[in-house]
Amino acid sequence: MHSNIVVALDYADAQDALQLASELDPSLCKLKVGKELFTTAGPHLVEQLQSRGFQVFLDLKFHDIPNTVGKACEAASRLGVWMLNVHASGGSAMMQAAREGVDKSGQEPLLIAVTVLTSMTQENLTEIGIHTPLQQHALHLADLAHQAGLDGVVCSAHEANSIKKAISKDFVTVTPGIRPASASLDDQSRVMTPARALQMGADYLVIGRPITQAENPLLALQAIHQEIRTHVNQND
Ligand code: C5P
Repeated sequence: MHSNIVVALDYADAQDALQLASELDPSLCKLKVGKELFTTAGPHLVEQLQSRGFQVFLDLKFHDIPNTVGKACEAASRLGVWMLNVHASGGSAMMQAAREGVDKSGQEPLLIAVTVLTSMTQENLTEIGIHTPLQQHALHLADLAHQAGLDGVVCSAHEANSIKKAISKDFVTVTPGIRPASASLDDQSRVMTPARALQMGADYLVIGRPITQAENPLLALQAIHQEIRTHVNQND
């Protein structure tokens, strides 16, 4: 079964990540490995997760000179991951190099870009010399990513619709900041429910703590699928 839920494995070591994976079902979710976990557990963990049937989003957000990013993307693709990403602010040449690196690997992961980090405010952008309104800047970077041949972007579910409208309905949107109706917000501020995010044009939902911190992660994941199905049926 194709699942559009990506569980964020925000753990410090392989043991905790593998424990959670053993409680989940690869037909119900994919897994996201980020900088902390990859730094401690490395490619071996990615291979272990994949050998258990999980598709992996390698969230390392590469940003460097084009040659380095191209090589890093090629290496990441060779791990057989399902999705990987770079920072769009690295520019067109860097993103084109990323595209070429992925294409050279012989694998076909989705290659997506981060536009403006959601932790950034307008003041933070001004500080680094960018005076364009934040939303406009994010859309500009999404457009650059599309022109460089990338497959999509990480964005807020609140922006997924306008990005698809401005660029293409096939441009993939991956959205964090998702909270089931009953869950705590943790430190997220602009959240959306899974069903609403999908309605708004999100293709994949990145969900961490509502599943990883649940008493029973599999039940939490199944409940999210149920919440989505109920909502979709109501809107038929
Ligand atoms: O636990 P939670 O559902 O908030 O986890 C969301 C995941 O998505 C985390 O791995 C977080 O780093 C990531 N993320 C995010 N906001 C972004 C980009 C990534 O929350 N804009």
